Amino acid sequence: MKKTDEIDKYYYFFPQTVAFIGVGTNIMPAAWHTPISAQPPLYGILIAPKRYTFDLLQKESGFTVNFLEHNKAPASAQTGSISGRDIDKLEKFNIEYSKAEKVNGPILASSYAAYECEKHTVAEYGDHHLFIGQIILIHYREGILTIDKLVNEKNVAPMLYFGKDRYITTDPNSLAIHKRK
Ligand SMILES: Cc1cc2nc3c(=O)[nH]c(=O)nc-3n(C[C@H](O)[C@H](O)[C@H](O)COP(=O)(O)O)c2cc1C
Repeated sequence: MKKTDEIDKYYYFFPQTVAFIGVGTNIMPAAWHTPISAQPPLYGILIAPKRYTFDLLQKESGFTVNFLEHNKAPASAQTGSISGRDIDKLEKFNIEYSKAEKVNGPILASSYAAYECEKHTVAEYGDHHLFIGQIILIHYREGILTIDKLVNEKNVAPMLYFGKDRYITTDPNSLAIHKRK
């Protein structure tokens, strides 16, 4: 193994699912996001203070987290390279959505799953803030789940970010099941 003390880009954890964070009528793609707790169901997103989304998150009491398929990667490049301060991205890029039921944010029509999150806590960590939301409603596309309520690998090709504008997805034929003892 080689070693490096250049830790500025520790992107060895990629690929990561792209999550489109929605607040008000704005969206931005985020690759830094994580489950925090199962009970209560908490989800964390890491947002840099310079983002318009950051300003909106300070003001609003909730946000949405939308998961799209790999074929929508162009929407990630589009909405991730311009700020909602300057344009209405949903309108400009013709992104269909409906209003979330319980929070002020968009549910993207092409998402295979989307969470409505109520803001729970916020904490600053270096150059990002961790916004933790409690998931209060889940939208999902009919027919995509296995009997165990997992996303069926045959029905969804998730949008995964591999760093530096590279997107990849899963190969359903690679599925391996190894039971825990
Ligand atoms: C694939 C991808 C992943 C990104 N992940 C994050 C992230 O996790 N956190 C973040 O603050 N910015 C992230 N960005 C950058 C923002 O999406 C980008 O700056 C966006 O234009 C901000 O929009 P806004 O100003 O309307 O909030 C990412 C961009 C791309 C393309």
